Formats: sequence, C-alpha cells, structure tokens
Amino acid sequence: MPKKLLVTGAAGFIGANFVHYWLKQYSNDNIIALDALTYAGNMSNLDHVRDNKNLKFVHGNICDDELVEKLMREHDIDTIVHFAAESHVDRSITGPDAFLETNIIGTHALLKVAKKIWLDEGLKPEHRFHHVSTDEVYGSLNTDDPAFNESTAYAPNSPYSASKAASDHLVRAYHHTYGLKVTTSNCSNNYGPFHFPEKLIPLVITNILFNKALPIYGDGQQIRDWLYVEDHARGIDLVIQKGRLGECYNIGGINEWANIDIVNLVCKLMDEAFSNNTDLAHRFPEAKAAINNNCASLITYVKDRPGHDRRYAIDPTKAENELGYKPSESFETGIRKTLQWYLDNQEWWSKVMDGSYQDWIENQYN
Ligand code: NAD
Ligand code: TYD
Repeated sequence: MPKKLLVTGAAGFIGANFVHYWLKQYSNDNIIALDALTYAGNMSNLDHVRDNKNLKFVHGNICDDELVEKLMREHDIDTIVHFAAESHVDRSITGPDAFLETNIIGTHALLKVAKKIWLDEGLKPEHRFHHVSTDEVYGSLNTDDPAFNESTAYAPNSPYSASKAASDHLVRAYHHTYGLKVTTSNCSNNYGPFHFPEKLIPLVITNILFNKALPIYGDGQQIRDWLYVEDHARGIDLVIQKGRLGECYNIGGINEWANIDIVNLVCKLMDEAFSNNTDLAHRFPEAKAAINNNCASLITYVKDRPGHDRRYAIDPTKAENELGYKPSESFETGIRKTLQWYLDNQEWWSKVMDGSYQDWIENQYN
C-alpha cells in the first residue's frame, strides 16, 4: 500500500535530502512537504523534485494546528515524518524562544492533531508518527566514556538540546498515554549537500572560497560523530519500516573527529582541489589561500561557545541488530563528495546566504 506522508521541515537540510531519498525509493508514495521557510529553509533545496507529481509543497507553520489538521484530512495522511525544528546551537544561545516555540509547542501541535484524527476519530488504525531527534539530548561525554546508547540518561546542555529533549518526551508520552504509534531516531551530526553554511563543515568550505577566517571555538578538541546525510535518511526509513512502536533508535556513523582535525582535512582537500583543477582559481578569484594551497592559514581560534559540549558519540548497536542498519558512505568518500557538491553549487549557497544570514554571522564574531 503506498504511503501518504506529511514531512515537516522538508525544505531544510535533512528534510530535503530525505524527500529526495524517499521519492527515489518509493515512487508510488505521496508526500506533503510542510515548511515555514525560516532562514534555514529554502525552496531551492527541493528544485530537483519540484515537478514530481507525488510531491506537494505547503508553506506553513507546524504550530498552526488548523492548517496541519486540514492537510492531514485533505491528503489522508497516514505517516508523519517530523524534521521541522530550529536546529543551530549558537542561535539557541542568543535567542532560545524560537526553539521552545517550534521544537516543543510545534511538536505538540502535530501530536495533538495526529491523536485527534488517527486515534480519537479512529480514521487510521495503521499510522506512524516518526520523530527526528538528535544525540545532543544525551549531553556531553568525556574522552573515555562509552558512546551514547538508547538507555543513556537525558542531560541536555543547550537551549537547543533541551527543547529537543522536551519534544522527545512529549512523543514518548503520547505513545504511553494514548497509544499513538510513534518511533524516534536520535542521530549524530550530519553532513552533505544542502547543509546551511552556518554549520561547521559548510561554513569552512564557503569561508575558504571567500578567503575568510575559519573560526575554531575554544581549543578545537571537541569531538563530533559525523554521518553522511543520505545514511541518516536510510536509517529513518528502516525505523519507519521495521522499528518497534514506542522505541528510540540511535543512528550514527562510528566516525568521531575532533573539530580541528575536520577543519584541517577540509583545508587539505580544498588545497588538492585547487591544485588539480586550475579552473577553480578563475571561478573563485577571492579564494587566495586556496589558490596558494594554504587554506589552513585561515584557521583562527576564537572564544569558545558557552556550555560547549565536549564529545558526542553514538552506539548504533540497537539499530544494527534490530533493523540491519549500517552507514553505507565512508567518511573519505562522503567528505570529498560534499566538498565537490559545494564547488559545483555556488549558485545555491550564494542564494541562501542572504543579508540576514550575513548580519547574524558577523555579529557572532564582533
Ligand atoms: P535545518 O535547520 O536545516 O532545517 C529545519 C527546517 O525546518 C527548515 O526548512 C525550516 O524552515 C523548518 N522549520 C523551522 N521552524 C518551522 C516551523 N515552525 N514550522 C515549519 N517548518 C519549520 O535543520 P536540519 O539540520 O535539517 O535538521 C532537521 C531535524 O533533524 C531537526 O529536528 C534536528 O533537530 C534533527 N537533527 C539534525 C542533525 C544535524 O546534524 N543537522 C543531527 C541530528 C538530528
Ligand atoms: P555545529 O556544526 O554547529 O553542530 P553542533 O553544535 O550541533 O555539533 O558545530 C559542530 C562543532 O564545531 C561544534 O563543536 C562547534 C564547532 N564549531 C566551531 O568550532 N566553529 C564554528 O564556526 C562552528 C559553526 C562550529
């Protein structure tokens, strides 16, 4: 039976990659893509699938429960895949309100409508609410601690992770109390195409191309566990198809890197790209360090992020054993693909880095 999905946050980084993945994988399914198009949401992220007759984009807010209810009824939705969120830790430090509004109130609005239509009115006994969450809800690890598993106690440290933790608890409560058929995935840091250039990897790539400083917070020894975004989409697919109701699944890449090492790697790959392709110097004449093959000279240590989590690492054993999940992209290939994507898609990142983004990023470092 083809599914009818409501995908929230579908014009964001992971949501858009998920929509591409799903339409390729399940060509008979229908997707209603709901997105408020905040600074992080871009219609151009869905350009490749714009003409797909099984996809309909709706510009709207998940907090608008009347709209969500109308969409669910009109399109006979049986599956919600919930990505919509405020997602950047630094922004949550300077302005937490939007995080509480979208991540907590917005998630609750979706849960309420899903319960009303699917359970109270009994319209869809077979339904699924899949909630996309993060490993950041588990807090921070020391160097020798075991990786986060699904039993690790929640200990969120930033307004972002606290708001995601609250949303995870609400999803759990709607299952436990009302019997809503839910699953949750907690994933590590993603990277890949359409990643907004305020996050570490695309920020470093685009800053090199503008010959701007590469800001390293604190000592640069914080560790993140990086996963190629399409592997996250596949992981969510497996949870939706095979995951047990009410359960959480950790999805990760078994790929821990210190920030400074990631930045040095991107610098090395960019130096190589400019050496191997002289056309790049003509296309990016501002990128002086890359042209001179010394991108690492742009690395600049800056004040640390307040409350900066030291290390995240995911133990994906449960997803491996129960769902057969394994990442298919190696970091070596994934990071090269990503760098090439940014070199090939200057139009995309120039367009998304509009005035408001530039103002924000400049205020950060002044
Ligand atoms: P993103 O910031 O790139 O995209 C979020 C999308 O949600 C944007 O398109 C935005 O316009 C939309 N949105 C925001 N508020 C909305 C609202 N009130 N109503 C409707 N749409 C709204 O984020 P992302 O990196 O794609 O993350 C997607 C989800 O995955 C989030 O829930 C995030 O917590 C989770 N996650 C992200 C990562 C990561 O590394 N990026 C890792 C694990 C989990
Ligand atoms: P980020 O991409 O913001 O993801 P998250 O905070 O969700 O892990 O940051 C990844 C790591 O890189 C994090 O430890 C903060 C660090 N960082 C920098 O050192 N400099 C930067 O300019 C940014 C954006 C992040």
